[in-house]
Amino acid sequence: MMSSFPKIFVAGATGLLGGQIVRALLDQGAPVRALVRPGTSEEKKNTLMRDGGLELVEGDITDPPEQLAEAVGDAMTVISAVQGGPEVIVDGQANLVRAAEKAGAQRFIPSDFAFDLTKLDDGDNFMIDWRRQAATACAGSRLDVISVLNGAFYEVMTGFMGLIDWQQATLSHWGDPDQPLDLTSVPDTAAYTAAVALDPAATGTLRFAGEVMSMRQFHDAVQRGSGRTLRLRHLGTADDLRAEITRQAALTQNPFDYVALQYQWCMVTGKAKFDSLDNARYPNVTPQSLTDFVRATTPAH
Ligand SMILES: NC(=O)c1ccc[n+]([C@@H]2O[C@H](COP(=O)([O-])OP(=O)(O)OC[C@H]3O[C@@H](n4cnc5c(N)ncnc54)[C@H](OP(=O)(O)O)[C@@H]3O)[C@@H](O)[C@H]2O)c1
Repeated sequence: MMSSFPKIFVAGATGLLGGQIVRALLDQGAPVRALVRPGTSEEKKNTLMRDGGLELVEGDITDPPEQLAEAVGDAMTVISAVQGGPEVIVDGQANLVRAAEKAGAQRFIPSDFAFDLTKLDDGDNFMIDWRRQAATACAGSRLDVISVLNGAFYEVMTGFMGLIDWQQATLSHWGDPDQPLDLTSVPDTAAYTAAVALDPAATGTLRFAGEVMSMRQFHDAVQRGSGRTLRLRHLGTADDLRAEITRQAALTQNPFDYVALQYQWCMVTGKAKFDSLDNARYPNVTPQSLTDFVRATTPAH
C-alpha cells in the first residue's frame, strides 16, 4: 500500500538517535530512505532493515553534492542525526543541505537535538558552537530548516554526564539544586522528531521535554526508579563550575575531556533553558517519566 506521507531521508541512521528516528518514522507508516556509510556492517544494516518500508542507500554527508543528491533522491524532508567534529556538523551538514536542494527536497532538520542553543554564546560549549555555525552556513538555503530541541537525554544524564556513582551511592551536581532542567529520553526525542517531520505545518525551532525538573527532583526520581538511596553531593556553584572548566581547559589539548562540564554549565546556569515547550503540538507522543526510565534501565544490584 502506498504511504500517504512523503519520503523522509535520514543521515546518521546507524547512530543512537538516528536509528530511533528511523524506527519512529516507520512506526507512523512513513517511507524512509536511510544513508549508511560504505563499510557499515551487515549486522547494523540488518538491524535497520528489521522493519519494512526502509530503503538503505550508501554514502557519506561529505560526498560531492551531486553524488549525495542522488542518495537523497525523491525525499521531501531530510533529517540529519549525525555526530562528529566540525567537518561533519558544520561542513558536512552544509554539504547535505546543498545536496538536498539539488535533489529537490523542501525541508531540513539538522542534528541539533540539544538544549536551547539559540540562547548560548560562542565558547559556552564548543560542540554547540558547531551547531550554531551549521545554522549560519545553512541560513541562505531555500530549504525550510526546522530545529528540534530536546534538552538533555535521560540516557546522558544518568550516564555520560558522570553525575551518578552507583558504587559510591552518590549523585553529584553543580549549581542551584532548584534550577529547572529540560530532559527527554532518546526514544521520545525520536518520536517528537518523527512527529515534526510528518507535520507539514511545522516550522522554525521546536522545543520538547519529557520532564522539566530540578536536580533535587532528578535525585528523587533516580532514587525512586532505582530503589537505591544516593547521597546528593553539591560540588560548588555555577561560577565554581566555570572556574573548574577553565582549570581543566588549561591542562588538556582535548576539549572532549571537559565537554560534559560545559553541557552541565549550560544547564545549571539556566542559560540554555527552554522558555516554552511545544509538547502540546503532538499529543500522541506521551513521553516516559524519568522515574520509569530509571526503573527500566538501572542495572540490578
Ligand atoms: N541532548 C543530548 O543530551 C544529546 C546527547 C547525545 C547526542 N545528542 C545529539 O544527537 C545527535 C545524534 O547523536 P548520537 O549520539 O545519536 O550519535 P552517534 O550514535 O554517534 O551516531 C552518529 C551517526 O552519524 C553518522 N555519521 C558520522 N559522520 C558521518 C558522515 N560523514 N556521513 C554520514 N554519516 C555520518 C554515524 O555513522 P557511522 O555509524 O557510520 O559512524 C552515525 O550513524 C547529535 O546531534 C548529538 O549531539 C544529544
